[in-house]
Amino acid sequence: MGLLNLLSANRSENLFLPAHGRGKALPKKIQKLLKLRPGIWDLPELFEIGGPLINEGAIAESQKSSAIAVGVDRCWYGVNGATGLLQSSLLALARPGQAVLMPRNIHKSCIQACLFGGLIPLLFDVPYLTDRGHASVFDRKWLQRAFKKAKELENDIAAVVLVNPTYQGYSADMESLIQEIHSHSLPVLVDEAHGAYLISQIRPELPKSSIYFGADLVVHSLHKSAPGLVQSAVLWSQGDKVDPFIIERSIGLLQTSSPSSLLIASCESSIKELIQSKGIRKLDSRIEEAELLKDFLINKEVPLLENSDPLRIILHTSKFGLSGIEVDKRFIRKRIIGELAEPGTLTFCLGFSSHKGLGKRFVRIWNEILTSFGQQKSCFFKRPPFSIVSKPYKSCSYSWGSNFETLNLQDAIGRVSIEMVCPYPPGIPLLIPGEILDKARVDWLIEQKDFWPEQIPDFVRVIS
Ligand SMILES: Cc1ncc(COP(=O)(O)O)c(C=O)c1O
Repeated sequence: MGLLNLLSANRSENLFLPAHGRGKALPKKIQKLLKLRPGIWDLPELFEIGGPLINEGAIAESQKSSAIAVGVDRCWYGVNGATGLLQSSLLALARPGQAVLMPRNIHKSCIQACLFGGLIPLLFDVPYLTDRGHASVFDRKWLQRAFKKAKELENDIAAVVLVNPTYQGYSADMESLIQEIHSHSLPVLVDEAHGAYLISQIRPELPKSSIYFGADLVVHSLHKSAPGLVQSAVLWSQGDKVDPFIIERSIGLLQTSSPSSLLIASCESSIKELIQSKGIRKLDSRIEEAELLKDFLINKEVPLLENSDPLRIILHTSKFGLSGIEVDKRFIRKRIIGELAEPGTLTFCLGFSSHKGLGKRFVRIWNEILTSFGQQKSCFFKRPPFSIVSKPYKSCSYSWGSNFETLNLQDAIGRVSIEMVCPYPPGIPLLIPGEILDKARVDWLIEQKDFWPEQIPDFVRVIS
């Protein structure tokens, strides 16, 4: 089937991102716009419209009113996903040669920013859930330990990046983490790609957005956690630690000179959905529906893992000795398409559209899968061999640009990687440019290859 046919086919239960559910949950105004003459909305930065970096025009007004509604100083809409705005944020936070402290489960976009911005990624290890193979959240004590070690390794730390919630929807106590970072007089950027909906503050039991705990910069992926079109995103800024001029200069470095007016309109309308009463009511009913679905599945003994995101369901496949990647293939055959297949789990994103009636079908397919694989013992995952904090042996940029040779993983011990090894999704690098491949890392990567057979190659490119 050709691309255009694939784009219009719609025969599956879509439990993947973007969260608007193949258009069903797009804000009404965007749906109406898309019904007009195709392309009528595809306009350049005309005087009245402007753009994310232009002070006058409808986009500037819209950004101003979104920032006021959310209670921050400034915001910028983005047309290259959270990726583009995270990268611009990093370039705004640190100068070439400065270090940025980040958790090991950082998204690859931040490592890429270090690479082209000449920044040093100081990566700190995070707790690990061996029963499912996920990075977990950490507390203030954990972060203090990371700070202590990071300061021994590097004396010019410019900023800290945190990721919250995680892809699977785990959420940390962000208030205390942000306080800790501010106690070191450093700015913090929160990659809240998966938590845009938290700005709605819809229920007291849900985590709050880091915006409300004073994070200096927060990035939302509006297609992942709000009903925006793919590539829509927003960067929020507040306080006086990061100069808005420097942020704009950095966005200008990476942003296309022709940002799509449709995507920008989608940024505006998906944010409105999260803060205006009609949208909040819709979100509330999606959450209710999701809670009923989760209860139903748990009652039918489907192994779900707990998280803080009501709209994400984590199926714990390794509890029955099964790979989430294999289970995903079975679900796809039955036309249920999940989002994040990992060695120990399969995460489904319910998003903002309704999935009434899904429960029974889900249980039936899961039971068929269990029967066909046969009962197996739970499997556990080994902790990654990361030190508390590590700094690449050579700079990311230098390594990326170096002459290289390609070696089998087992022959690469003692060598320096020129690239990332990074299963996608989730897009969390297992190795970054400039890191040295010691024996423990090579053994672990070889083991990971069995878990991610189609994602991790047998070879690695190293500085020659
Ligand atoms: C934690 C995290 N941050 C950032 C991104 C990038 O988001 P986007 O696809 O909007 O560029 C992702 C994408 O998977 C992610 O998981």
